[in-house]
Amino acid sequence: MCGIVGYVGEQQAVPILLGGLKKLEYRGYDSAGIAIYNGQRLAIKREVGNLDVLWETVAEDSPQGTWGLGHTRWATHGRPTHENAHPHSDCSGNFVVVHNGIIENFQELRTQLEKKGHLFCSETDTEIIAHLIEELYQGDLLQAVSQAVKELQGSYAMAVMSTQDPYNIVAVRQDSPLIVGVGEKENFLASDIPALLDHTRRIVIMENGEMVQLTPQEIEFFSLGGTTINKEVEEIDWDPEMVEKGGFPHFMLKEINEEPATLRHVMAGRLEKDGIKLEEFQLDQEQLAKIDKIFIVACGTAYHSGLVGKKALEEMTQIPVEVDLASEFRYRQPLVDEKTLVVVVSQSGETADTLAALRHAREKGARVLGIVNVVGSSIARESQDVIYLKAGPEIAVASTKAYLAMLAAFYLLAGYLGQLMDKANQEEIIRMLEGLRELPLKAEQALQDTEEDVLKAAEYIAGQESTFFIGRGLDYSLSLEGALKLKEISYIHAEAQAAGELKHGTLALITDGVPVVALVNEEGLTEKMISNIQEVKARGGYIIGVTRAGLKQQVGREVHELIVLPDTMNMLTPLLTILPLQLLAYHAARLRGCEIDQPRNLAKSVTVE
Ligand code: M6R
Repeated sequence: MCGIVGYVGEQQAVPILLGGLKKLEYRGYDSAGIAIYNGQRLAIKREVGNLDVLWETVAEDSPQGTWGLGHTRWATHGRPTHENAHPHSDCSGNFVVVHNGIIENFQELRTQLEKKGHLFCSETDTEIIAHLIEELYQGDLLQAVSQAVKELQGSYAMAVMSTQDPYNIVAVRQDSPLIVGVGEKENFLASDIPALLDHTRRIVIMENGEMVQLTPQEIEFFSLGGTTINKEVEEIDWDPEMVEKGGFPHFMLKEINEEPATLRHVMAGRLEKDGIKLEEFQLDQEQLAKIDKIFIVACGTAYHSGLVGKKALEEMTQIPVEVDLASEFRYRQPLVDEKTLVVVVSQSGETADTLAALRHAREKGARVLGIVNVVGSSIARESQDVIYLKAGPEIAVASTKAYLAMLAAFYLLAGYLGQLMDKANQEEIIRMLEGLRELPLKAEQALQDTEEDVLKAAEYIAGQESTFFIGRGLDYSLSLEGALKLKEISYIHAEAQAAGELKHGTLALITDGVPVVALVNEEGLTEKMISNIQEVKARGGYIIGVTRAGLKQQVGREVHELIVLPDTMNMLTPLLTILPLQLLAYHAARLRGCEIDQPRNLAKSVTVE
């Protein structure tokens, strides 16, 4: 999704803006640009493609100035072209705007502005903001922006500068994230914290409906109505290294290798001797007793974590659980009321569909629990209770460590609720606690032990057009995530099937050599899976088995290649099975020379519906 960086101070703005945009690359983008005030006018440089292209252009003719805005654009209105790249300016060139999100009534506003004689150079919704401000400006930029905002419908974050008001940036947050960085005789603006960590750890997180005015000396916050707001400065304790690759060729590989540590972090302080402690969850026994249904709502990988969560929650709480794609949830009129617990899951905490589903659930009176990674994000703030994943910044577009942390969070939640509601068997809880405690070490072992076999499988898959993933029960949920991971970064067509469903259609696509990744970990379903593997083999399919040590012999006989994981209790197998699947996708993409951390057409944080 688009990224915004702003700077006003005493240093040259270009390196600060481009350095900040680099740290936001993970959000996904297809063009980039900067605007710098050079003492006379606003110099704009924009390029299609990645930031290196913009760096080259800027290196040839670098605008000098200590005040500017930068932007990476992920196309929504209009293709990724030079004209559509941000920043956008008005007719006079006195105002520039960068913007993240969507202006829903842009066509109507554009027609009105064109009638008044404004000339447009792009197809974007953003450009209307610059012309609107030009139209409304009467000597006060803050005033003009605040009036313009009243005419805009949609969700956005935007920043504006004007030659008429030098050394002043005005920015607004409405549903898209925006933060302010506090410096000495300099101040900063950005879409996300990593963009500013090289310069300051003192951050103010803006809320929806807030405006900010930044000069080198001052930061003032206002409501859209113009009332002054006092906001707290937070000290961010992230180490800048946490957002660097740390010697790995890609963020994705770094993040996969961080997974054993992620497990430790998500469980830290939450596992007790004979139970689970979730202080963040405020519902007491009496309130919980009234809950008769649970919905899990999320998108993409987070949705897949919910499929595993359903199984754990149903087993431990005996309450029926439905898992919904957030983009479907609110349009299908789900049966949600004050007796419903809605669990929304999101790494970024900003996914537009998930946020909309959360709001819908709250309107209907449901209790909303967020399982979120990014602290202070919209979903975290709007949920009544929040379980933070503590996975640290996840930069690669393909979500890996956050998925694992989501699974762990679901087990913690299921065990905690099961105990609180007196529905879970205490012995089972103790067994689960033991299993969870052993997992970080087993995850380390799994990453090491499977490396060679995963590489071999990736070499096979990298040369194929299509790959299928099959499994039963929890393994089916994992198949869905394995297929998503492979397709999003390697661009190989990948599809997951519940193994028992193959013969109802998909088997028609299995011909000689077609790779089928068969997950065989579920207790009691091994025989059934082996029959499905044989169905595939009989059609010439090439089987890559993923199983655990206890089933190695049995499964090994049936497959062409085998990846073997350490044993763990049945319910917890997803926490290990996912590791070779993520690595398989990574290596297949690497062998095909793909842009692993920023796959085409995708964004890290999807803040548009
Ligand atoms: O930030 P979220 O967890 O809400 O994001 C949801 C999906 O957009 C995300 O999981 C997406 O599917 C990833 N690209 C998967 O790797």
